[in-house]
This record gives sequence, structure tokens and C-alpha cells, in this order.
Amino acid sequence: MQKVIIDCDPGIDDSLAIMLALKSPEIEVVGITIVAGNSPAEMGFRNAKKILSFMGRLDVPVYIGAQKPRVRDYINALDTHGEDGLGESFLPDVPDQDIPSKTAVEFMSEILKSGDVSVIALGPLTNLAELIDTDLAAFLSIKRLVSMGGNFRSHGNCSPVAEYNYWEDPDSAALVYDTLYENHKKIEMVGLDVTREIVLTPEILGKMKEANPKVGGFIEKITYFYFKFHWEWEHIRGCVINDPLAVAQFIDPDILNGLEAFTQIETGGISIGQSVVDSMGFYRKDSNAVIYTEVDKQKFWDMFLKRIIKL
Ligand code: RIB
Ligand code: CA
Repeated sequence: MQKVIIDCDPGIDDSLAIMLALKSPEIEVVGITIVAGNSPAEMGFRNAKKILSFMGRLDVPVYIGAQKPRVRDYINALDTHGEDGLGESFLPDVPDQDIPSKTAVEFMSEILKSGDVSVIALGPLTNLAELIDTDLAAFLSIKRLVSMGGNFRSHGNCSPVAEYNYWEDPDSAALVYDTLYENHKKIEMVGLDVTREIVLTPEILGKMKEANPKVGGFIEKITYFYFKFHWEWEHIRGCVINDPLAVAQFIDPDILNGLEAFTQIETGGISIGQSVVDSMGFYRKDSNAVIYTEVDKQKFWDMFLKRIIKL
């Protein structure tokens, strides 16, 4: 089993990603760290607890991290995830869930030093940037770093060229990518180029509900708002579930394919938050990122449905 910290901003698709991770025997979720993103940090904490409670896994510790991006003003994505951050499912809060005094970065600093813990980052990279500031050795001890974020040839979702996680906190994303470059390490960027291929359609949801009314019904409850959002804004019949693909790639490295390239994150101007992928080697710099461009959708859905729904 691979020990993993899931750093996330739940968030509807973050929640589906947590569910997939908890149902995967290859992964031991040693902790969930919350970052302000889709939802404000405290809301993300409460939402993570709701998902853990539904999955019967309140044993997994949850820690709160950054309340805002490194430099920019905080801009949430509740317009996409609903006012409760969980598709306006308004699930009841889990009782007696005190916020631990230990912060997300303190937890990361403690547990990453062993060198056998990986990080799957599903939100803005603010916590990881703070970890670089406070404990670079711990950051460099991350066994494998997979980030849902960025985009290469695919258009942005917050601007023509920027994806939300890196647009919300471009300074943290830039520090993470630059630090990896300076230390000859790599991040695996699961960006919009591949996540846009993963669309939960009404047909798939129907099959999930048929096969497993409890879990399928729960997923319908938290994705209904997301379906409406996608139809209104992108005329997509269904919803793009970005984050579970990052977990799936962590589990089965054959699901995605791509290229290695030196990559930087723009921190200002009209392209703020853009992941600038030097795929042609203009800068003649060693790669600090694996940029995924192809996805085996069938492999993903087989994994997702078998593990979450037992389909
Ligand atoms: O741009 C999509 C990403 O931003 C997903 O991780 C979503 O949950 C939000 O965090
Ligand atoms: Ca997310």
C-alpha cells in the first residue's frame, strides 16, 4: 500500500476523488489536508468529514491549511460547487468534529520526512508552498507528487489560458514548480487536457444508482448542482469530474500518457495562472513536470465504477 496525503478543497469532485482513494486497496490515506479553494477552508474541513462519515472512515485525520492564496485575494468556486461546497446537498455536519490544533503544514512536515509518503494535490498548491517555506526537506521528501491542475493545449476554465487551482494561487504553484526544477524533481500534472475527457453523464449516474442505490444516490445528491452548472455554462450534458482522475493515475500509471517538459506558472498579467509548458525545449532546461495529454477513459471508468459502486 502506498501512503498518501490527499491535499484538497472539497468540493464536489474532490469528494469523489476521496471516495475512490478510500476504496482503493493500493492506497493508505494517512491524512487529508484542506486548502482554501472551491470552498473556504473550514467548509472544506466540514465537507471532508461528511464524506469520511458516509464512507465510514472518520478514522482518517483531517487538518486545515491555508485560508487564502499566497499573494492574491481569495476567490472561491462556490458558484460551481454550491453554497455548501457540496452541490447544495446540505448534508448535516458530522457532530463533535473539532478542528485539530495541528495545521495541515505541521502534519505534512511531520509525516513526509519518512520519505515513503506521497501527495495527491487536488486543489490550489498553497499548503505545499507554505511547506517549502517552513520545511523544504519535508517537501523534497515527498515520494510522488500528483497534482490535478493546469492545462497544456486545452483552454482554461478561469480564463482563456488558466485552470482554477493554479489561477486561484499562481504564486504557490510557481514556487512549487520552480522548487522542483531547482531540486531535479518532478510533479505529475493531471490537467484539463485529460480531465475534460472524464464526464459523469446522466446515463452513467443512472447505472450507478441502479447497481448501488445508496452510493449512487449519494453521488447524485452531491453532483446534481454540478450537472446544472455544466449545462448552463458549457452546454455539457453531465459534469467533468477532474479530481478522481488524479487518484486513478496515482493507482494505475497506465491510465494517462504524456510528455516530460520544463514548466512554469505565470504569476501576473493577462495569463496569470497559466501553466507554460516548454514542450519544444526552447529553454533547454531539464523537465520538472510530466504533463498528461492522453487518457484511457475506459480504464478510468472501469476502476471508478468497480471500486465505488462495485459495478
Ligand atoms: O479546475 C478544476 C479544479 O479546481 C478541480 O480540482 C476542482 O475541484 C477545483 O479545485
Ligand atoms: Ca479540487
